[in-house]
Amino acid sequence: MPATDETLMSEKPPRHQSVLLREAARLLVSDPKGLYLDATLGLGGHAQAILDALRPEGRLLGLDLDPASLRLAEERLRGRANFEAARANFRDAARELKGRGFLPLSGALYDLGVSSLHFETAERGFSLRLDGPLDMRLSPDNPLTAATIVNRWPEEQLALLLKDYGEEPQARRIARAIAERRAQKPFETTLELARLLEGLLPRGKTHQATRTFQALRIAVNSELENLSQGLEAIVPLLRPGGRLVVISFHSLEDRIVKTLFSSLTREGSCRFVEDRGPLKPSPEELERNPRARSAKLRAVEKQ
Ligand SMILES: C[S@@+](CC[C@H](N)C(=O)[O-])C[C@H]1O[C@@H](n2cnc3c(N)ncnc32)[C@H](O)[C@@H]1O
Repeated sequence: MPATDETLMSEKPPRHQSVLLREAARLLVSDPKGLYLDATLGLGGHAQAILDALRPEGRLLGLDLDPASLRLAEERLRGRANFEAARANFRDAARELKGRGFLPLSGALYDLGVSSLHFETAERGFSLRLDGPLDMRLSPDNPLTAATIVNRWPEEQLALLLKDYGEEPQARRIARAIAERRAQKPFETTLELARLLEGLLPRGKTHQATRTFQALRIAVNSELENLSQGLEAIVPLLRPGGRLVVISFHSLEDRIVKTLFSSLTREGSCRFVEDRGPLKPSPEELERNPRARSAKLRAVEKQ
């Protein structure tokens, strides 16, 4: 069950440290009077930095699939006259932007994945350390939960999912163990799944369940499909000089961004902003925020 309004209202909002914050805002805002999209509003950290870089004529639209994140961001940015927010999948950004007079766009930012709100709220089911239902949905409208995948998908399909979305070398072994365990008793909680993997695999640099949880989260939220469709749809909406900035957190996301940006620059419709290679967090940022360790920022500008 996702966190209810009551549970979230009674807790202090979790501290989410926005990754590559200053860099993202600097690379995104080329025209302080322009129209901008924060496609992954989250808790509004990047949005705040973008708004700080805008003049009063500039405007920012923030989107998020998750109503709890959206509410916290709106609270944080209340009083900013040139900011508005909507609950929407960034795959459908064109509709939101057109309907609100946000075209042509001067820039769009995608800070992918989930935030601390998701990892630190046990009820959302994203954490392999906090006990909660095997949920992992960003949107409550999504009918697919992690429990459905774990308990109902055929073993073969589970193995493929773990291999493709988790890049898990032990995919077959894990799928077999899940199938055997669920035949006795279906999985209900995150810790039941995490404990199974702890008993099955040796502990490496990361927790034994990290790749499995990543794979489930990607599948539940159709993250890779949303990303490729979302980015391809936004490029035609950028004005010349408009920028597309993406922060990715694992190689599957980064591959999609890198492939699209290479093809856009090769065909001449975009150029790289500053560097062809990705920008990574500084050692100081990593010291402050170890969760940023796999972040890569890529930016292109429409020609
Ligand atoms: C890393 S967080 C963003 C944090 C934000 N930049 C900040 O500084 O607070 C990613 C956010 O994107 C949202 N999200 C993920 N996929 C989405 C999608 N397809 N459409 C809209 N929002 C999405 C998640 O709910 C999450 O709140």
